[in-house]
Amino acid sequence: MSGSAPVPLGAMLRATLLVGAVPILLLLLLMAGGWLAPAPGAAALLATTLAALAVARLWIGNMARLAEGLRRAAEADSGFDRPALAPLLPSVAEIADGVALLARRLADRAEQVGRLQRADQAIVEGLPDPLLVLAPDRTPLRANAAARTLFDAGNLSAGGGDVAALLRHPVLAGAVDRALAEGRPQAVDLTLPVPVARDLVARIVPMDPPLADGGRLVVLLSDRTRERAVERMRADFVANASHELRTPLASLIGFIETLRGPAEDDKAARTRFLGIMAEQSERMRRLIDDLLDLSRIELTEHQPPTGRALPGAIVRAEAAALEPLARGREATIRLDLDEAVAAAPADAEQVAQVARNLMENALRYGREGGTVSVAVARAEPGGDRRLPARPGVLLTVADDGPGIPREHIPRLTERFYRVDKGRARSAGGTGLGLAIVKHIVNRHRGVLLIDSREGEGSVFRVWLPAAADAPAAG
Ligand SMILES: Nc1ncnc2c1ncn2[C@@H]1O[C@H](COP(=O)(O)OP(=O)(O)OP(=O)(O)O)[C@@H](O)[C@H]1O
Ligand SMILES: [Mg+2]
Repeated sequence: MSGSAPVPLGAMLRATLLVGAVPILLLLLLMAGGWLAPAPGAAALLATTLAALAVARLWIGNMARLAEGLRRAAEADSGFDRPALAPLLPSVAEIADGVALLARRLADRAEQVGRLQRADQAIVEGLPDPLLVLAPDRTPLRANAAARTLFDAGNLSAGGGDVAALLRHPVLAGAVDRALAEGRPQAVDLTLPVPVARDLVARIVPMDPPLADGGRLVVLLSDRTRERAVERMRADFVANASHELRTPLASLIGFIETLRGPAEDDKAARTRFLGIMAEQSERMRRLIDDLLDLSRIELTEHQPPTGRALPGAIVRAEAAALEPLARGREATIRLDLDEAVAAAPADAEQVAQVARNLMENALRYGREGGTVSVAVARAEPGGDRRLPARPGVLLTVADDGPGIPREHIPRLTERFYRVDKGRARSAGGTGLGLAIVKHIVNRHRGVLLIDSREGEGSVFRVWLPAAADAPAAG
């Protein structure tokens, strides 16, 4: 700011008048009464007027500069600087210092408020659960990152598609009404059908007084889709397991009653029934073994195995053990095994279980009189995009059977899932084999790929990490 700040003329004249009025009037009276000679009187008048003018100019100038400084500070929303010019009246300088101090304090306070606001925003933004802030008319004002992801709503003001659907949901709308009417938080469960079905718990918290941005309601959502799915799966699992056990048990009880009653003396019937009973008991035993296996594998799934396995040798031994089943189906097992390649870290017993389950399936559900081809080879990194790009071992079990309809493939590894329930059950299947395979492969941080074409057969491939010293035999 320069020393020649504009001094308003009118204000200056008024101030001159104010300062000089009394002495000038007094001098004029003295002159009029003859107490003061005209010459010295005129000199005194001139001196008084000039002095009044000087004082007024200084005062008004100071004030104008102070006002100008304040105006600039307000316009630029910046700090206030004491006008750095002389001469500054001491009282004005004090005012200026006071104002500067006050301005600094205000700026500090504003900075602090800004920091707090940014911290609050960061917390809300970073909350793992979706959060919406609604205006009194229930339009969304804000949504945090989780809410934007959930609703895929970049632009809330444009109606926000899914957010709008959520807010129209009768259950949520009712809870919002109650929250506003009662002034108390509300919690409701709701299911959103689109774009993917989601189970949500919504908590609606009324804000009284409203938030600084006008927000009147905060809606907090927790996505319970996963938990609900797990609950449903658990319930299904228990229902399935008890159903699978109850069926053979009911048949055992039925035969026992028959043998005690009507068939007591019928030797032929007894032999036949005992055969069926043995089969049913065997089925129950297998089911219990599989269930125990599955829960054991699940318990250790997060601990990677520590040993090593030679899938080639393992497959050879398992194929030999399955010869009777192959003969029964008049099927041929063709082996193409690289017996030097080792998998590690791997659990040899579990690798054997994988090979057994896959070969058994290929024999059972493949073509009668068909061929089951089993290969163990080093996996070429980059060969299949679905496989890891690390050194690995690939176990392939292919059959030339009827194949698996496309829609069933993603569900094959679910417990108790069978494509053709009647056929699988009559083939002795419990529907747990591939679930066990999947969990073993997961534990090995491996990959299971299932490809099938109806009418042409199925190919099951298991990728396992290869041992670093792969060629060594052991
Ligand atoms: N190679 C295959 N060809 C056609 N269908 C198959 C094949 N392998 C599996 N399936 C289908 O997948 C279902 C699930 O297989 P999974 O091995 O999990 O159970 P399962 O063989 O019925 O019983 P388990 O193996 O426990 O004795 C089978 O019931 C069958 O319908
Ligand atoms: Mg099976």
